[in-house]
Amino acid sequence: MRPVPTPLKWLLAGLVGFAGAGVLAGAAALYVIFSGAFDASASTPHRAIVAWATHTTMIRSVRARAADITAPRAFSAAEVQAGLGSYDQHCVACHGGPGIPRAPFVSAMTPTAPYLLDAARRWSPAELYYIVHRGVKMTAMPAWGEVLSDKETWNLVAFLEALPKMSAADYARLRQAQLAAASPARPDR
Ligand code: HEC
Repeated sequence: MRPVPTPLKWLLAGLVGFAGAGVLAGAAALYVIFSGAFDASASTPHRAIVAWATHTTMIRSVRARAADITAPRAFSAAEVQAGLGSYDQHCVACHGGPGIPRAPFVSAMTPTAPYLLDAARRWSPAELYYIVHRGVKMTAMPAWGEVLSDKETWNLVAFLEALPKMSAADYARLRQAQLAAASPARPDR
């Protein structure tokens, strides 16, 4: 028999090693899935590496997918106020607001819902629209596009854009104005 040339030997050894590593990784994954070794409870925080991997994945995914959404150039005061109305109804319990703490159950979430006072500094309007409209998998953040119209979602973005400069007093005043606009006092009462 003719001897196998050395480079080919190395190539074959490499392939066998690669396949072996793949089988081992697959077996390890199956072990983690079926043995119950993974702690899926919300009462233990993610390991630092898992928190980093999931959060970075989310940021990259939003940036890539929001790239072809066109945001309005500017938002009106009426849109900010309407957005505040939706925020007060749907979001404030989890995310809190100016002068308003998050509900106590939020600290029991993994991952927790962050305050959004500076969200507009970290995300573009199109990215905020995408996050609110589509939600975030494997977290408690719902896909609001299932319940809110496009217009209502952009109003929420208008509100989030105004939030970094909104004081607790501004929030309370706009909230009163929004409640009054939503249910005007009847003259016969
Ligand atoms: C049941 C709780 C809950 C409700 C209600 C909720 N969210 Fe969230 N939201 C979350 C969680 C949890 C995250 C964190 C997701 C993550 O870690 O990637 C989040 C993330 C976000 C983010 C990204 C924040 C950042 O800095 O990365 C935005 C923006 C946001 N939510 C907006 C909203 C708006 C607007 C509403 C209301 C229409 C809303 N959320 C309602 C739980 C909630």
